[in-house]
Amino acid sequence: MSQKIIVVGAGYVGLVAGACFGSAGFTVGIVETNPDKLRSIKDSNVPFYEPGLSDLLKEGIAKKRLSFYSNQKDALESLNAQFIFCAVGTPESPDGSANLSYVEAALKDCVLNSKNHVYFIIKSTVPVGTSQKLQKMADNITPGKVSVLNNPEFLKEGTAVSDFLRPERVVIGGSPEAVEKVGAIYESFLLNQKPLIKIDSVSAELAKLGANLMLASRVSVVNQIARLSSATGADIRSIEKVLQSDSRIGSKYLYAGLGFGGSCFPKDIKNFIDLCKKQGVDASVAEAIDTFNDEQKLIFVNQIIKDFPKASSTRIALLGLAFKPETDDVRESPALAIVEKLSALGYRFNAYDPKAMETFKASVKKESNVRYCSCSEEALKDADALLLVTEWQEFQRIKAEDLKTCFKGKHVYDGKNVYSATALKDAGYIYYGVGRS
Ligand SMILES: NC(=O)c1ccc[n+]([C@@H]2O[C@H](COP(=O)([O-])OP(=O)(O)OC[C@H]3O[C@@H](n4cnc5c(N)ncnc54)[C@H](O)[C@@H]3O)[C@@H](O)[C@H]2O)c1
Repeated sequence: MSQKIIVVGAGYVGLVAGACFGSAGFTVGIVETNPDKLRSIKDSNVPFYEPGLSDLLKEGIAKKRLSFYSNQKDALESLNAQFIFCAVGTPESPDGSANLSYVEAALKDCVLNSKNHVYFIIKSTVPVGTSQKLQKMADNITPGKVSVLNNPEFLKEGTAVSDFLRPERVVIGGSPEAVEKVGAIYESFLLNQKPLIKIDSVSAELAKLGANLMLASRVSVVNQIARLSSATGADIRSIEKVLQSDSRIGSKYLYAGLGFGGSCFPKDIKNFIDLCKKQGVDASVAEAIDTFNDEQKLIFVNQIIKDFPKASSTRIALLGLAFKPETDDVRESPALAIVEKLSALGYRFNAYDPKAMETFKASVKKESNVRYCSCSEEALKDADALLLVTEWQEFQRIKAEDLKTCFKGKHVYDGKNVYSATALKDAGYIYYGVGRS
């Protein structure tokens, strides 16, 4: 008989985790409190865009490995599972700290409704000390009923399924006995000697925040170099090649652009800063990354205002709304920051994204001057400027000769350095890249 798992929260992390556990042969109960999302998942429809997830969900349902619930009580009664993975949101509170109310509510539900001893495994990204705090909360309700562990998730939206099925490492923090039990779940996921790192929960929690700070810092450092590159007439793309070919530096997260967005880096850095403050630790490096990145998202704004002083008669083709390609997630996307800033000044937008139109509509202020288009050609047709925000492949393939046939304007603001500056300039366009003169 296959082992039973419950996953609480069916968002970008929880639904991927549940479907992947199902494909690995576990019997999985997925709990989701949002009725629309639950209905959609039960009907085999993934309520967001994540490549490969839809097939896995359909397969899990067909093989009867996945079942769905609106609350933990029903899931626990039906499955009597021993392992509860918590993947609910931990959004940023106004003071920068992580809002733990969803995690705490999930823990309470678990303690109150489980019949036997269970492992409550926190996959959500949480402040340092959360597992210990939740262990105390659980023991205050019923001592010894629940063991709390931390199992930070490192998947990336866009490649989440393969990241989960073939992780570079799995980290589990908790008591040695609990870590052994939960670690066994991941045995079949760890191929080619990829490590299962068994540590204490405080270190696991800080390792997750530290990993995101480290990755975000690379993005900000290359963008810092890019600013000096523009000012001095160097080309950041050549500099990137030099940096990336140094094995000490490595090649990932080292491309100049409009900064990082998404649901993780910005909030996790703010959470890190908040934790430093609470511990009396200097957070100046993390603070600099945070503020620098906010400015980076708006790096073209002053140039656009200079090039087009008459805001209300300027229409900008905004290509890309998601915070990165292969996702429909627009949380903290540079496109949101740009539209908010320029639309308040009266600029108008023709927006197009292959997957993120609906999520963007739901997130952007209602009064923003955005017209939604069905393709890039439509967005470009009557636009004065092209602003590339997300490097979807279909945008990367646009060439100067394509622009000649469908673009009214002359100005190209390339937020991801994907276009040939020379080809565009030779064809008569005015080109701006990030860190390229
Ligand atoms: N998105 C990522 O790429 C990523 C990667 C690694 C870690 N994380 C972390 O994982 C956590 C989840 O992120 P996400 O992007 O999946 O969030 P999400 O907002 O997409 O999903 C969270 C889901 O939990 C549901 N939920 C809330 N309370 C619930 C409850 N008591 N019972 C059942 N369902 C409940 C919500 O309705 C929502 O569908 C966050 O802490 C995030 O920082 C996210």
